Amino acid sequence: MNAPARTADSSASAAAIDALYAQHVAELHRRTLEALSRGGFDHLLVPSGNLHYQFFDDRDYPYAVNPQFKAWLPLTRNPGSWLIATPGRKPTLIYLQPFDYWHVVPQAPSGYWIEHFDVIVIRKPEEALAHLPKDAARCAILGEPQSALGDYAPNNPQPVVDYLEYHRAYKTPYEVAMMREATRRGVRAHRAAEAAFRAGLSEFDIHLAYCGAARQDANDLPYGNIIALNQNGAVLHYMELDREAPAQSRSFLIDAGASHHGYACDITRTYATDARDEFQALIDAVDAAQLKMCDQVRAGTDYKRIHLDAHLALAGILKDFGVLKTSPEAAVATGVSGVFFPHGIGHGIGLQVHEVAGFAASDRGGRIDKPAGHPYLRLTRVLEPGMAVTIEPGLYFVDLLLDGLRQGEHADSVDWNRIDRFRPFGGIRIEDDVVCTDAAPINLTRDEFAATA
Ligand code: GLY
Ligand code: MN
Ligand code: MN
Repeated sequence: MNAPARTADSSASAAAIDALYAQHVAELHRRTLEALSRGGFDHLLVPSGNLHYQFFDDRDYPYAVNPQFKAWLPLTRNPGSWLIATPGRKPTLIYLQPFDYWHVVPQAPSGYWIEHFDVIVIRKPEEALAHLPKDAARCAILGEPQSALGDYAPNNPQPVVDYLEYHRAYKTPYEVAMMREATRRGVRAHRAAEAAFRAGLSEFDIHLAYCGAARQDANDLPYGNIIALNQNGAVLHYMELDREAPAQSRSFLIDAGASHHGYACDITRTYATDARDEFQALIDAVDAAQLKMCDQVRAGTDYKRIHLDAHLALAGILKDFGVLKTSPEAAVATGVSGVFFPHGIGHGIGLQVHEVAGFAASDRGGRIDKPAGHPYLRLTRVLEPGMAVTIEPGLYFVDLLLDGLRQGEHADSVDWNRIDRFRPFGGIRIEDDVVCTDAAPINLTRDEFAATA
């Protein structure tokens, strides 16, 4: 199933953003019209969300904007605001700019988005009530329970949510441009992190170098940085950030992103200190295989197919490097490939680093199951133009999983000396963000690394 206005790529200059954004808002109007008619509502209301406070404390958690709100507006730091979209009318933004001398409050509204909204500035959250549609029962209100205001409690009607989340997979050209901007920032920071690794710094100091170059910190980044030296690369979501540098840095796995106007990039690279070491050759083999997988991001391809093919390709690499003693096909059939590649090939990406509706069978609901034996795959849909996904194969030497293999019936399918050879390097993951088009895929990540080489 296709939706309009979703295929073209753009490396947009600032001047082009206005036109792309106008097209984006037009597409959101179209989707809203259909979503409301499916749910039988007259208005879409989207609160931006509120601050949450820690239990037994007066400290607030970092604010995370409602993704349904930032789908419309590049505003990620505006709690207490509301969007109202009514078919046939210009949407209204109720913009909270509180009187507050303790904190910096949101700037007076401005930007390329403003001409597309009737903006009402309020000073207190409850002032929004006077501007919401009169009959709350006619409103689809998308948000978390804490956003309730008077009669206007989020009802998150399933038909409305299903429709909007399903179609969010298809990026408008504006969204692709935003993801490109996030990628620019992320790649710049990845280069700084690689330099810090090569200078022998600790994980923590590499992280600081990354954040410094990205000009973003934990509250801005789309997910917590994974910065892993040596064996730590075998922990899939390693986030310890060791303060001390190891005596010797052999390898470096970095999975780190950046944000731009609410959109994410998600990038992983793996490096070896010694380019002559066999581990570098293993990285190069995964890199070459990953490029082929990226080329599979084509209209009509089942994403599950890419995942299953990846198992075979990665098992082939293990065979080439003498880790595997059986055929790659046998390693996939017995589940041995999953010991070394124990996660999914990727996921949708955009407003959320793990974009929603990865299993949606249609815009009316339903679910496409994961292939049996592959519990960590996050996306099972058939690819279509406009979809943005990650492609992130990996090979890891995880003690816990290797112990299970050693104790099981397939222990003889691998060469344990070869495994011990690679264990001190932890693991490898290479991750790019790729947009499906009517023709060849657009690799946002590779494009940016190439442009800044
Ligand atoms: N950074 C988390 C992931 O790659 O999915
Ligand atoms: Mn990812
Ligand atoms: Mn990642």
